[in-house]
Amino acid sequence: MIAFLDGTGFITSRSSMGADLSLLISIAAFVMLTVGVVLAKSKRYEAHRWVQTVAVVLNAVPVVIWMIRSFRLSILPDLPGNLGKSVEALTTVHAVAGLIGVVLGMFVIVRANQLEAKGQSLSRYKNLMRVASVAYLLATALGVWVYIAIYGWPRPTPCRLPTPRRR
Ligand code: HEM
Repeated sequence: MIAFLDGTGFITSRSSMGADLSLLISIAAFVMLTVGVVLAKSKRYEAHRWVQTVAVVLNAVPVVIWMIRSFRLSILPDLPGNLGKSVEALTTVHAVAGLIGVVLGMFVIVRANQLEAKGQSLSRYKNLMRVASVAYLLATALGVWVYIAIYGWPRPTPCRLPTPRRR
């Protein structure tokens, strides 16, 4: 599994499979979280609970499998000395925002599903849900920034057409 994730990625020439899959999964989870917010605003709470539950779990997969390992191996050993360097500082701020998002997100979905089973209201967790949403927004935006800072912008591979023969 780790060998597969450490293998060559498909978005840029320098990225790994783990980084590319993490980027796509994080963006997909963030789109789902946004759809979930729209569902809550239109008072479709049952659909909102399901969508947010799936999105929070989906988001946690690359964090647990890829990002925490990557942070432990490449950032943590040189902290706090390297905090003056831009990529390390950016990744650390990203990791803190992400950790807050994941912990709050997990807490809210567990409580939401418990209270739903008892038929109770979740309105007392409204502010916590707002804080979690902001943390996810920040972590995703910073995560995309981290990706570009480490691997660069995706570039289309040059198309190699055969050179025309001279007559
Ligand atoms: C809401 C939670 C989070 C979201 C949405 C998120 C999103 C992202 C995204 C989109 C990337 C770029 C893709 C990549 O390079 O893997 C990334 C990279 C990274 N994230 Fe997160 N992240 C979250 C939480 C965390 C946490 C909790 C940590 C560490 C404790 C962390 C550490 C990292 C590291 C080290 C990288 C660079 C990985 C690499 O070397 O490729 N992230 N994150």
